[in-house]
Amino acid sequence: MTPSANQRIDEESYTSWRQRSELAKMADLPPSLEQELVRLDREFWISSTKLKQIVQRFREELEEGLVKDGQSIPMNISWVHNLPSGREKGTILTLDLGGTNLRVCKVTLLGDHEGGKGKSTLEQEQYRLPQSLKTGSADNLWTFIAEKVAAFVQAKGLDRQYSLEKPMPLGFTFSYPATQHRIDHAILQTWTKGFDIHGVEGEDVAKHLREKLKERKLPVQLICVINDTVGAMIASAYNDPATIIGAIFGTGCNAAYLAHVSSIGKLDPDDERITAASTHNGTNKGKEMMAINCEYGAFDNAHRVLPRTPYDKRIDEESPRPGEQTFEKLSAGLYLGEIFRLVLVDLMDRGLVFQTQKEEGKEGLKNLYRPYTIDTSFLSQIEDDQSPSFSATRDLFAQTLALDPSDIDLEVARRIAEMIAVRGARLCACGIAAICGKEGIQSGNVAADGSVANKHPKFKRRWARALGEVFDWEGADGVKGPIRITSAEDGSGVGCAIIAAMELERREKVANKLP
Ligand code: BGC
Repeated sequence: MTPSANQRIDEESYTSWRQRSELAKMADLPPSLEQELVRLDREFWISSTKLKQIVQRFREELEEGLVKDGQSIPMNISWVHNLPSGREKGTILTLDLGGTNLRVCKVTLLGDHEGGKGKSTLEQEQYRLPQSLKTGSADNLWTFIAEKVAAFVQAKGLDRQYSLEKPMPLGFTFSYPATQHRIDHAILQTWTKGFDIHGVEGEDVAKHLREKLKERKLPVQLICVINDTVGAMIASAYNDPATIIGAIFGTGCNAAYLAHVSSIGKLDPDDERITAASTHNGTNKGKEMMAINCEYGAFDNAHRVLPRTPYDKRIDEESPRPGEQTFEKLSAGLYLGEIFRLVLVDLMDRGLVFQTQKEEGKEGLKNLYRPYTIDTSFLSQIEDDQSPSFSATRDLFAQTLALDPSDIDLEVARRIAEMIAVRGARLCACGIAAICGKEGIQSGNVAADGSVANKHPKFKRRWARALGEVFDWEGADGVKGPIRITSAEDGSGVGCAIIAAMELERREKVANKLP
């Protein structure tokens, strides 16, 4: 790096956190805590110069993943060859195995019914995944899923409309990194988002699901396995043609985009699976496309560029898969609350916060020592608190942790919540900037879903601003920039159904030898 770039980073990091903070001040801090916040800010703040360095390395890793298997970012082939026309029709059952729930939906795609393209209706049931399931055995997982599908099929009377001879098409949104040789096949590469179910990694999840559904004689046929990012892109493109990327900023983080097959070095353009798809979707040779599920939560697993704090390192070391999902562990919803908790525990252990609580022997301190007791919504609520004297934040501490913080404790906690969320949003912009930069995409909509994107009050603005800084857009605020963040349509329900409908249409054309 040139000396001037180094100098710029230093200058930016010396800008005081107070100047950057958007939160109104609620209490004066003693010098020891002021200094502590300066230290934390130095660790968490990502300057414009640093953002650009990260994006540069990110682009290299995306390229590496396209060329060869087994790279840090896997750039998984999804076998989704094009965006939808908006005319797709059909009734599809979808399954969505998320980080917290299993969702089963009956989706009816209306195509361009009554002139309105991209319309659909949906009926759904949501089942909370028991914590024990996430670290249990494969058999428990597939049994749980098959049970819920059976209950849904029965409750909606689908067993009367469909049979084993004429089954209902089923789409499965499986939001973990998977190698796909076909659209109805998916070998789990590694669990992410804290899952650690034995006997699934290295296995074809489609095969296991199919077997369990068959055991129960359910009248369904698995047509596709998709990632939530691919679903978000497809569902959004169904009625917004400006969609360029589907992204999830939630429990985990990741994005998908439509790549030129010619840019995917690890794929043979003469592969029969590609030529067959282009024959029926009318794409000329050399112009074929393929949706890529980047799985960029794994960016920088070699720890070359991301500035990791001691808190991040600890989260990684104590996670079920140390050394994996480095980028995700710094930016995704599953971890933001835990980073916040670790910083507070550190300050408390060093006698800087919650001292009255300690003296009073508050029960709540035990809660603070329990890993993953604070989730990202805690941080969102802190930053959303407009109440006089921040009573909502006080209530939050009381209800979630049984703690009664002093004004100073609260002031420190608010600042830390902000630093962590700002870093997360700025990092999230890097992945998207890297895809757009690499692909030469200069405008369009990034269809985003996930709890952080949807529920954190300042995420989208911070994300847009960081994107503007990376691309040197005029004006500091990227909100009006040519690449915008939009709210994705329901990717894991409707998106999954559209992909199943596209695949069924393709199969029908192939079977009937239609162009
Ligand atoms: C998974 C991705 C997923 C993302 C968002 C990550 O942990 O590996 O497959 O798209 O979370 O849900």
